Amino acid sequence: MAIIEVEHLYKTYQSKTGEVQALQDINLSIEEGEIFGVIGLSGAGKSTFVRCLNLLERPNSGKVLIDGRDLLELSERELSLERRHIGMIFQHFHLLMQRSVLRNVCYPMEIRKVEKKEARQKALEYLRTVGLEDKARAYPVQLSGGQKQRVAIARALACEPRIILCDEATSALDPQTTRTILALLKEINQLYGITIVIITHEMRVVEEICTRVAVLDQGRLAEMGTVKEVFENPKTPAARRLLFTKDDDWGEADKEEVEHGIF
Ligand SMILES: Nc1ncnc2c1ncn2[C@@H]1O[C@H](COP(=O)(O)OP(=O)(O)O)[C@@H](O)[C@H]1O
Ligand SMILES: [Mg+2]
Repeated sequence: MAIIEVEHLYKTYQSKTGEVQALQDINLSIEEGEIFGVIGLSGAGKSTFVRCLNLLERPNSGKVLIDGRDLLELSERELSLERRHIGMIFQHFHLLMQRSVLRNVCYPMEIRKVEKKEARQKALEYLRTVGLEDKARAYPVQLSGGQKQRVAIARALACEPRIILCDEATSALDPQTTRTILALLKEINQLYGITIVIITHEMRVVEEICTRVAVLDQGRLAEMGTVKEVFENPKTPAARRLLFTKDDDWGEADKEEVEHGIF
């Protein structure tokens, strides 16, 4: 069954130089338990798309259905309940620097008013899952990039999510660390049955763990299929361009992300 369905999604931004059509008529559905990739060059609309999936960004029109319920029709309260089951991880981790690792992971549970002792116990369990139990008392500044992303993954797990959205989650990491983070995401997908949406400009990320992939090009859905289909036989110029561009040529998809509202 589709856990995420997007219908006729449009998003336009107003900028100083005029309107930017960030998303135009996007239609797709993601099955429960999938690891779904969205690739595209910088500026293609990937971050806008993923932020529309939990309404961090409100589309101008269209539908975003989670389990068949249109998020755009929900009240603020219903939406915040729905969002609790959608975790998110970012390129720059967004950890709370003045809190220990353990208290970072406790944070979403604090918001949900989970009892303190229970929250700490669960946080330790999530830290064990990501292989960082021994860093519970450390502070983010003492951790490597890969370790910080593991903490962010543990914090996402603390939402007891059914979906985890990853926006360029490995783009600030070296290739070796990227592989270990991808392996961890795959493990979580299998262990908890969590649906994962991976936004990236790196082909190798999609190749490594995604089941299906959508190619975004200038705000439009250029192509979609299994990774094998799209990589072996790209049908559109946009997909071919992506496939034949070296990762290094693409420029960093490095923008400030706004974190408010994700818990
Ligand atoms: N808040 C904003 N205001 C104006 N334009 C924006 C805003 N966010 C994104 N855009 C524009 O929308 C387009 C898609 O951006 P984005 O979704 O960030 O792409 P990607 O993540 O694929 O790099 C780009 O042209 C970008 O400049
Ligand atoms: Mg982006």
